Amino acid sequence: MTLKVGIIGAGAIAGDHCSSISKYAGAEAVAVADLSPKRRNEVKKAWGMGKAYATWEALVADPEIDAVTIALPNALHAPCALAAIKAGKHVMLDKPFAMNYAEAKLCADASRRKKRVLMVGMNQRYSNEAQTLRAIVERGDLGDVYHTKAYWYRRMGSPKFGTWFVNKQMSGGGCLLDIGVHILDLGMYLSGAWRPVSVSGQTYGTFGHRGIGEGGWGKSARDKKIKFDVDDFATAMIKFHNGASLELNVSWVMHQEQGDRHDVELYGSEAGASLFPTKLFRCGKQKGEYEVVTPQGVALPDKRTNRQHDWLDMIAGKRKSICALDQALTVQKVLDAIYKSSATGREVRLR
Ligand SMILES: NC(=O)c1ccc[n+]([C@@H]2O[C@H](COP(=O)([O-])OP(=O)(O)OC[C@H]3O[C@@H](n4cnc5c(N)ncnc54)[C@H](O)[C@@H]3O)[C@@H](O)[C@H]2O)c1
Repeated sequence: MTLKVGIIGAGAIAGDHCSSISKYAGAEAVAVADLSPKRRNEVKKAWGMGKAYATWEALVADPEIDAVTIALPNALHAPCALAAIKAGKHVMLDKPFAMNYAEAKLCADASRRKKRVLMVGMNQRYSNEAQTLRAIVERGDLGDVYHTKAYWYRRMGSPKFGTWFVNKQMSGGGCLLDIGVHILDLGMYLSGAWRPVSVSGQTYGTFGHRGIGEGGWGKSARDKKIKFDVDDFATAMIKFHNGASLELNVSWVMHQEQGDRHDVELYGSEAGASLFPTKLFRCGKQKGEYEVVTPQGVALPDKRTNRQHDWLDMIAGKRKSICALDQALTVQKVLDAIYKSSATGREVRLR
């Protein structure tokens, strides 16, 4: 039986969902929803779908649809996911999970009650680099990973001004929720540190409200009434139950030499590693020698193709996705704590 998938949101990231689903043997994208007639009709035509709806509510009400991918402004993630789960559909949410942990928890609880597969699709986990480094960490080459440095610095890389991305009421936050979520998730996924105990953070809005730093992302139309009121830089220190720490830095806009630089660096008792490019740093076999190694031919016993196929495999009962729901909740909890720490000037303890 072919699983019928609805694509909710026909904006900038919709093509990624449609393209992957079109390559999966047991599923078919049959409908799209978007407020914009132009965008929804373009997606419908490009991917040969039968139906295009004006709103997410109309698509969720379609009984023919078994599962949905959601790529809407962040404020609509939880309402749409909850309605879809209530209607008996499986859900793949694009990042971030929701506006905050409380919303994310409601969605997770609902999916468990209704026995529907809910996954937050963290696409960066599926790169060859990430899969390779995770396999290297899992086989113990780094020893105990005691520190992780995760950063994504863009220079003039804010999404389009005057769109939902830059407005707190619609996005929940700026660079931290937009790209910080990716690099924080990668840092925790690669290091395997999933029990945070404290978070100290600071966020800044230095450029966007002055009209500086616009990049090009986003297909939503600009609206002059939408004001920039979110963070364009964030920094945090996260500590874990085993004493490990993670330093997070993220910017949409910042004065620096390069237009974009991002990486996850792992520091372990036996070796260090970088993700982009994937390299290992360790003592050589001879005393006094030190080596920088580009890993070759690392076996990937549990290789995953992409987030959509991982989600569809899980719906089909083939295997669990690598984007575990509890991990998505933990990431959201840490993001909330960074904003809270910044607002209060205090470290936030997590349980
Ligand atoms: N995984 C990634 O790397 C990645 C990359 C970009 C965006 N995203 C996420 O995907 C989501 C969408 O981002 P985007 O870049 O496509 O944004 P976008 O602004 O380009 O598109 C959003 C679309 O939602 C539509 N929309 C808004 N309200 C609607 C409603 N009530 N009913 C139906 N459609 C509605 C808009 O018309 C627009 O076409 C965001 O949550 C974003 O964080 C993820």
